[in-house]
Amino acid sequence: MENFTYAISTRVYFGRDTLHNLEFEIPKRASRILFVYGSGSIKRLGVYEEVTAILKTHHIQYQELSGVQPNPRLDTVKEGIRLCRDHDLRFVLAAGGGSVIDSVKAIAAGVPYKGDPWDFFTGNAQVHNTLPIGTVLTVAGTGSEMNGNAVITNTTSQQKLAVRSDLLRPQFSILDPSFTFTVPREQTAAGVVDIFSHILEQYFSPTPDTYVQDRISESLLYTCMKYGPIALREPNNYNARAQLMWTSSLALNGLLTYGKITDWATHAIEHKVSAVTDVTHGIGLAILTPAWMEYVSKDDPAGRFIDYAQHIWGIDGRKKEAVVKKGIEKTKAFFASLGMPSRLKDVGVQESQLRDMAASIVASGDVGKFRRLNEDNVYTILKNAY
Ligand code: NZQ
Ligand code: ZN
Repeated sequence: MENFTYAISTRVYFGRDTLHNLEFEIPKRASRILFVYGSGSIKRLGVYEEVTAILKTHHIQYQELSGVQPNPRLDTVKEGIRLCRDHDLRFVLAAGGGSVIDSVKAIAAGVPYKGDPWDFFTGNAQVHNTLPIGTVLTVAGTGSEMNGNAVITNTTSQQKLAVRSDLLRPQFSILDPSFTFTVPREQTAAGVVDIFSHILEQYFSPTPDTYVQDRISESLLYTCMKYGPIALREPNNYNARAQLMWTSSLALNGLLTYGKITDWATHAIEHKVSAVTDVTHGIGLAILTPAWMEYVSKDDPAGRFIDYAQHIWGIDGRKKEAVVKKGIEKTKAFFASLGMPSRLKDVGVQESQLRDMAASIVASGDVGKFRRLNEDNVYTILKNAY
């Protein structure tokens, strides 16, 4: 295990009827805020009404920024920064999924920064200062509610890039699983795949002696396998929604990463697919994860793929190659059982785009730490997934 500093600072209010905690979390931080949400699901849920009632009762001045799209856009971030500056807003509240929360993080970092907020994503600027952030989560998947990551799409350059800073962790997040009852079937399934993928990106590590991290990861994978299908069958099953919501936070709040090197090649590749096609992130991951596994599992001296096949899917056998292959087949079958497509050509990718996509994915260097992938490696994975 490697050295690490444990720091997960977000206060989480988890469970039914926890939204009222906004009543003291916001007034102690600011009297003028930006309230950010997507295209209307929070109005149908009643969350909008409840949040605005709390703000009014506590005499909090607020501006709204609505219409944040899935695969959130840089233009929307710039609009949020403008609103904060014009109205002297001192706090940013997100109500929605990862797209709304990531936008809020980029806005929070962009307000005190004099340059273009895209600089944070290209690595031309570091985050040194932010407005404080709070979130009300309405869909499980990204873990953005507890982490310091934001992923934003620049439609002009067709790039979808991430920034990471502990300063971007929300001060607090409200996680009421009943808010996710209305999440549509496909989005629920995409969320489960996203959680599953976050765990795998950290599970497949070149670092030896990570027994405790590996066993925690396996518990979280089991939770996805058990409760993902239940949430699809019974959308109003509180326990299934609660298990998934908390797993999504634990999968990407840093817990699994401490003490080890992690991979993230599949995410780097998927973000390019989303940038080009606007496909839902979890759907892209369902297609690419098995293709990545098939490619990198051929070179696995530490036997991580054997562990995965045996511990997660209960596969035994003397022939290592056959065990690994079955583990990957089981993964594919699980994603298919959630209704996920399995080919890039089914989500709008053209074969003629694959070479340029591969070049763009490695533009700042090879991707992946479990196995480093260059342009040709990435191209082969894309082609195999096509
Ligand atoms: O626009 P609204 O009305 O909010 O509708 C959303 C949207 O259409 C809808 N939705 C949300 N809550 C709902 C609901 N519909 C009905 N009932 C509810 N309770 O769901 C749709 C998708 O929302 P979105 O926020 O895009 O989903 P998700 O949470 O999966 O976020 C995906 C984004 O997060 C990024 C992804 O790349 C993608 O851009 N990621 C962020 C990460 C992070 N910050 O750590 C890590 C991830 O790997 C990921 O890259
Ligand atoms: Zn993800």
